[in-house]
Amino acid sequence: MDAVDRTRQDDEERATALPVRYDELAPAAPEGGLDLAEAYPQEAEIELEIGFGRGLFLIERAAAAPDHQLVGIEIKRKWAYRVEQRCKRLELSQVRVFGGDMRTVLPEMRPAGRIARVFLNFPDPWWKKRHAKRRLMGEDVLEQVARLLRLGGEFFIQTDVEERAAEYARQLADHPAFELEGDGSLDHNPYGARSNREKRAIEDGLPIYRILARRAAG
Ligand SMILES: C[S@@+](CC[C@H](N)C(=O)[O-])C[C@H]1O[C@@H](n2cnc3c(N)ncnc32)[C@H](O)[C@@H]1O
Repeated sequence: MDAVDRTRQDDEERATALPVRYDELAPAAPEGGLDLAEAYPQEAEIELEIGFGRGLFLIERAAAAPDHQLVGIEIKRKWAYRVEQRCKRLELSQVRVFGGDMRTVLPEMRPAGRIARVFLNFPDPWWKKRHAKRRLMGEDVLEQVARLLRLGGEFFIQTDVEERAAEYARQLADHPAFELEGDGSLDHNPYGARSNREKRAIEDGLPIYRILARRAAG
């Protein structure tokens, strides 16, 4: 086949190619919920990122803490699929990602008190009041994170929106299951990993507000 025929064949294949069905391709959380006790050995240090987007944080975190087991949940199935593929190519077998809504995936995750760290990176794209229910951070997430974190476990939130950072710190300070680390704000990210939004904010010289809270006995 000469080059012209090959190009024509490529064009025909492209034109007849089915649209990519990320709903079908994206890894889904197990039916009935993810049982961390079943999936990981007892001594495993488990970390969770909620809303990982394009996944840079998970990939850099896997390099920074290669012995830890990382779980990610992302509602955009396209990104869940792509990040899963990227982790496979990089042979990061300690990263497991799921395409799904954390509002349904988290309540089904068990057992309580099994996770060492939860990361919520730049959870605030929604500004308008009517979008409030689409925000990642809220009462429901706090309840689930409180349930899943072990005592002393870390809850790390980053944002480039100052008012939101203040609101998150207030929510955590008011919640009996959390204790802010110091005054709650960190001047650096201690986890050796940047999210895509964080990397962009650093490159653009934007301020980043970081909050660390620990699971308290309450
Ligand atoms: C502003 S982006 C930040 C992405 C990434 N964490 C970063 O810092 O680059 C918020 C992410 O949360 C995801 N998200 C929003 N609602 C979600 C939900 N209910 N469950 C899981 N992920 C969600 C979005 O699809 C998006 O990828």
